[in-house]
Amino acid sequence: MKPAILIAREVFEEVIADLERDFAVESNQADVLFTPDQLVEKLQGKQGVLTTVMDKIDDGMMARCPDLKVISNIAVGYNNIDVAAATARGIKVTNTPEVLNEATADLTWAILMAAARRVAEGDAFVRRGEWRKAFAMKRWLGADLHGATLGIIGMGRIGQAIARRALGFDMRVLYHNRARLDAATEAALRCEYSQDRDGVLKEADFLVVMVPYSAATHHFIKAGDIAKMKPSAILVNTARGGVVDDAALIAALKAGTIAGAALDVFEGEPKLNSEYSQLKNVVLTPHIGSATRSTRMAMLRLAAKNLTAALKGEAPPNWVNKT
Ligand code: GLV
Repeated sequence: MKPAILIAREVFEEVIADLERDFAVESNQADVLFTPDQLVEKLQGKQGVLTTVMDKIDDGMMARCPDLKVISNIAVGYNNIDVAAATARGIKVTNTPEVLNEATADLTWAILMAAARRVAEGDAFVRRGEWRKAFAMKRWLGADLHGATLGIIGMGRIGQAIARRALGFDMRVLYHNRARLDAATEAALRCEYSQDRDGVLKEADFLVVMVPYSAATHHFIKAGDIAKMKPSAILVNTARGGVVDDAALIAALKAGTIAGAALDVFEGEPKLNSEYSQLKNVVLTPHIGSATRSTRMAMLRLAAKNLTAALKGEAPPNWVNKT
């Protein structure tokens, strides 16, 4: 008998067909959002599950899924899974790094530029029929990218892909990371290292935070950090909700402590702090960093490969809790 697995959310049909060669697959093409109890119920008798960042699995849930051997997250981040509990229970956890670096970097630039040049605000203005005077010299002024300083905190694979794109805009790139990049990478990206995180906060015209979410990075950017930024700066978060303190950011945007923000991720997604929608100086997108067909397909293929390897007793390529 084929081992049973669950695909917790809607996916491309080809991926289901591939997995059906080896597994008895229960999929969720209706894209029902399962409650934790419903997910546990669906996981009865299942040895593996493909999850998204919205599918939280904690220790209590794992305790009620005795057959579960692998949780294959279709994401690079895996803060939705209690990894320590999975390790203690002998459940393998895997993720999908690398394949989404470029798409996420592209989206980061899309919203950064939208905020810099007021694209979303201008679009809404035109659609509302409020455009009366074309080419008003002093209206709709935005921020220059060329010559500006791009600050990146978190210079991992995605951070570096973001930095590479700044070369085309003739920007100065200043970064902070736990570990400094090697000299050759710094030279190729023409970026400068700041040992001091505050130095990046103070000097950035555009600040991108690209750190994984964990207890240690909860509210990694809070009121005191935003206060150190230039009043003309724009904050960009395409990493994870909770890395930025939304309430503090809203207060700063209202007070003009910083000029704007571009956000793809939020605390408590898909709920939005309603104050964001009242603000003109913020661009909001619904967690779509990796949302291109080719990237989502690559993530799914990698997640399927990880799950398949784990259930065949092999080491999955992206095994995050390998001991
Ligand atoms: C998406 O948010 C991911 O972590 O891949």
